[in-house]
Amino acid sequence: MNFRQLFASKRLDVLLKEMEGDQRLRRTLGPVNLTALGVGAVIGSGIFVATGKAAHDVAGPALMISYVVAGITCIFAALCYAEFASMAPVAGSAYTYAYVTMGELFAWIIGWDLILEYAVGAATVANGWSSYFQEVLKKVGWHIPDICNRATVVYQNGEYIATGSLFNLPAVIIVAIMTAILVKGISESAGFNAAMVFIKVAAVVFVILVGAFYIQPSNWIPFAPYGWTGLNVMGFHVAGQMDEKSHEPLGMLAGSAIIFFAYIGFDSVSTHAEEAKNPQRDVPIGIIASLVLCTVLYVMVVAVLTGMVKYDQIDVNAGVSMAFHHVHLPWAEAIIASAGVAGMTSVLLVMMLSAPRVFLAMARDGLVPKSFFADIHPKYRTPWKSTMAIGLFVALLAGFLPIDALLHLTNIGTLFAFVIVCAAVLIMRRTNPDAPRPFRCPLVPLVPILGIICCSVLMFSLPAANWVRLILWMALGLVIYFCYGHQHSVLRNPEVVEPTNPTV
Ligand code: ALA
Repeated sequence: MNFRQLFASKRLDVLLKEMEGDQRLRRTLGPVNLTALGVGAVIGSGIFVATGKAAHDVAGPALMISYVVAGITCIFAALCYAEFASMAPVAGSAYTYAYVTMGELFAWIIGWDLILEYAVGAATVANGWSSYFQEVLKKVGWHIPDICNRATVVYQNGEYIATGSLFNLPAVIIVAIMTAILVKGISESAGFNAAMVFIKVAAVVFVILVGAFYIQPSNWIPFAPYGWTGLNVMGFHVAGQMDEKSHEPLGMLAGSAIIFFAYIGFDSVSTHAEEAKNPQRDVPIGIIASLVLCTVLYVMVVAVLTGMVKYDQIDVNAGVSMAFHHVHLPWAEAIIASAGVAGMTSVLLVMMLSAPRVFLAMARDGLVPKSFFADIHPKYRTPWKSTMAIGLFVALLAGFLPIDALLHLTNIGTLFAFVIVCAAVLIMRRTNPDAPRPFRCPLVPLVPILGIICCSVLMFSLPAANWVRLILWMALGLVIYFCYGHQHSVLRNPEVVEPTNPTV
């Protein structure tokens, strides 16, 4: 094997030429549309579900600060992401940017990692969706039987324990419905997105405004019952408290690593750089405004939640809506649970749409079999086979595994992708200093370096078992790459180029 071939990169000018063949998108999005896109992509299970468990088990009221730390980390990563996106705005997002800058092996690693982010993230959202959906059903007097209303196992004190449920039926059903919709094809509708953003933001504002009347400041004391840090390196304790049984880190930073999930999806703003009217100005405004807006809303929700209910009494499955049950406002609980279901549905749709698109980009480069992953349905014009394969994978994960294990794995995978993206900005500035950059990340190298440091710290604040899972996932990916992708790469075998598939 030629070692240098592993780092062969796509040339930026070739990539841009390839894109000229595709239909260019019209530049129609201004800063407000971009901000709405960002907000629409992020508000979901993170705030509605993970917040309750993180406040209860890991950070207490200090979770407010955890949200600020995770939000700042995302801003650093997002600015780097935006520079990449504006240089090569094509399907496949960070995978394609890595191919141009860091070569094929890194592109593979990041593409494989993005599949993890989107597929496992979708399973996480489906799991949260199920909890909220069951809250809504309870309001009309329906109960899903215990035999199929939650994951098969929960993770407690470092071990998996059977819950008595065979699988999470509502989670599997929503994944099946989403898969069917995606196989048939959806045209991204600005109207639908606007409605979703409105419902989600309205629900969050409702929580803040109504909940504020039920805050008891004594519930905020102690503010940081688990401490301020929570760091371990691959299982070795570095700083802060640790759960005595599970040896998982506890504290404000550990809380940040968990609720980082609530911000995942903001990268969708950067992938719209090609459609921005003025990318240099509007993309960073869209990213920063959506992250700042979400951070403010999230911090206020946590303040209200931990003010309404003592942190150790918060419901761990549907914390936000159940807080209103706690203060005897069942009507408010019903409104929030319904809005939560709607909000999580739209996030689920985007995540399940994205994973097959990454496979599609990888298949076009010959790194995964084209006949399967780039097969476009003759009638619906969608990558139907990979959409169904991803749907099956997501349904299995969501049906059997508990939300926290899924969420931690999504976070570590996404943080890892951001570390690579931040590093790639630094590399690209040296190797291609003159390439056109419609958007330039400010304060390079400071911002990418801060991005790498913050994302790495959050990775080390996650329970160590996630490192093992990430490494296993990556090892599986490398086996596939060396057994298949390396041999079939279009970049190194231009003669095997097959007729281009229609654009999806
Ligand atoms: N940020 C998205 C959510 O919280 C993934 O559901």
